[in-house]
Amino acid sequence: MTCLRQVSANGHEFNCYDSGEGPTLLFVHGFPLDHTQWSAQFDELSRVARVIAPDLRGFGVNAAVEGTLQMSDFADDLAALLDALDISTPITLCGLSMGGYIAWQFWDRYRERLNGLILCDTRAKNDTEAVARGRLQLAERVIRDGFQTAGEDMLKKLLAPENQTELPHVAAQLLTVMTTTHRTTIAAALRGMAERPDMTERLGEINLPVLVICGSEDVITPAEEMRQVAAALPRATYVEVPHAGHLSPLENPGIVNGEIRAFLGSLS
Ligand code: MLT
Repeated sequence: MTCLRQVSANGHEFNCYDSGEGPTLLFVHGFPLDHTQWSAQFDELSRVARVIAPDLRGFGVNAAVEGTLQMSDFADDLAALLDALDISTPITLCGLSMGGYIAWQFWDRYRERLNGLILCDTRAKNDTEAVARGRLQLAERVIRDGFQTAGEDMLKKLLAPENQTELPHVAAQLLTVMTTTHRTTIAAALRGMAERPDMTERLGEINLPVLVICGSEDVITPAEEMRQVAAALPRATYVEVPHAGHLSPLENPGIVNGEIRAFLGSLS
């Protein structure tokens, strides 16, 4: 049975995983990936929740976009997607990395639609000037040369060193997704991430249950930084996932799925 459907929302078409019944758990993927980043969550968590995992605007098999994709644009898309799916009760949003940047914006604009947040391997801080400049340069390079070389470099940082060799099928699948993502979409998301707001001073306002998850070997958004984010959130629980890098839900699903299930249980 396929759980993929096409959904029209906010003037765009979205390829979207939708399976299960119960409270809604909305998964928001990282950069430059698609809904398959959550494939290790689907079977187990759709037994206890309605799991929704779209390809974000421009990503996966969705139509390419150009220009700049602000994190708030994605948040608006997600709210419209929930409307299109007739979901009006509060949801739990789980975002990884860029998905976490989007989660902050969803909270900022639609907090009444949330009963909880799960933030995986992400950060609250915005880019330094040097990092933002690097993203804009990479955007130009990707338009010109594609994402093959950048994708191979990024892959080395996405998975923990042992998982590069122990999970070869996962590494191969990630590289395929990254290198088949539309170049203009990659550039648009890079520009949007470079402009995203700093959320560090606002963490104290997020008065929701939050589960903060980080791979112990994450070199992109290190555990120490995520620990500080959790400490600044009024109602957060922090979980560090062993044998995992930046993609902890994919690298160590046993731990992550158990934590998400327990978190969902605590909300009901
Ligand atoms: C991601 O995994 O979404 C990216 O590493 C986010 C970023 O480049 O800041």
